[in-house]
Amino acid sequence: MKKMLVLLAIVALVATSAFVAVAQDKGPASIKMEVKMGDVTFDHAKHQGIEADCAVCHHTGDYAKCKSCHGGKPDAPKSKKAYHKLCKDCHKKQSGPTKCKGCHVK
Ligand code: HEC
Ligand code: HEC
Ligand code: HEC
Ligand code: HEC
Repeated sequence: MKKMLVLLAIVALVATSAFVAVAQDKGPASIKMEVKMGDVTFDHAKHQGIEADCAVCHHTGDYAKCKSCHGGKPDAPKSKKAYHKLCKDCHKKQSGPTKCKGCHVK
C-alpha cells in the first residue's frame, strides 16, 4: 500500500510538471521567415517582452502556424497582408522598423 502511494505521488508530480512545461512553451526565441524580397528575422523573445499579451499576435487563442489559415483558408487574408498589418501597425505606434529594409534583409 505504501509503495502504491509513493507511485501515485510520483505520477502526480510528473503530470503536474508536464503541465507546467506545456503552459510555459514560449516557442522559439528567434524565427527566420524566408522571403524572396529578403529574409525577415523576427526576435520572438524580444517581442514577448514588448507585448505581454500573446493573443495580440496569436489571435486565435492557440499557437497554430499563421499560414495554416493565412494563405490557405479563404476567410483569412493572405499571410503577407496579415503580417504587414500586424507588424507595421504596431511599429508605427511604438517606433519599430517600418521601411522595407528594416525587416527584409538580403
Ligand atoms: C509580436 C507578435 C508575437 C507575440 C507577442 C508572441 N508571438 Fe509567438 N509567434 C509569433 C509568430 C509570428 C510566430 C511564428 C508563427 C508561424 O511560424 O506561423 C510565433 C510562434 C510561436 C510558437 C511556435 C508555434 C509553432 O508551431 O511553430 C509558440 C509556441 C509561440 N509563438 C508562443 C508564444 C507565447 C506563449 C507568447 C506570449 C508569451 C507569444 N508567442 C507571443 C508572434 C508572436
Ligand atoms: C485558425 C485560423 C487562423 C490562424 C491560425 C491565424 N489566423 Fe489571423 N485571421 C484568421 C481569420 C479568419 C481572419 C479574418 C477575420 C478576423 O479578422 O478575425 C484573421 C485576421 C488576422 C489579422 C487581421 C487582418 C486584417 O486585415 O485586418 C491579422 C493581423 C492576423 N490575422 C494575423 C495572424 C498571425 C500573425 C497569425 C499567427 C501568429 C495568425 N493570424 C493565425 C484566421 C487565423
Ligand atoms: C506589439 C507591438 C509590435 C508588434 C506586433 C511587432 N513588433 Fe517588431 N518591434 C516592436 C518594437 C517596439 C520594436 C523596437 C524594439 C527596439 O528598438 O528595441 C520592434 C523591432 C522589430 C525589429 C528590429 C530588430 C529588433 O529585433 O529590434 C524587427 C525586424 C521586427 N520588430 C519585426 C517584427 C515582425 C516581423 C513583426 C510581425 C510578425 C513584428 N515585429 C511585430 C514592436 C512590435
Ligand atoms: C515590420 C516588418 C516588415 C516590413 C517593414 C515590411 N515587411 Fe514585407 N513581410 C514581412 C513579413 C513578416 C512577411 C511574411 C513572411 C512570410 O510569409 O513568411 C513579409 C512578406 C512580404 C512579401 C511576400 C513574400 C512572399 O513570399 O509571399 C513581400 C513581397 C514583401 N513582404 C514586401 C515588402 C515591401 C515592398 C516592404 C516595404 C514597402 C515591406 N515588405 C515591408 C515583414 C515586413
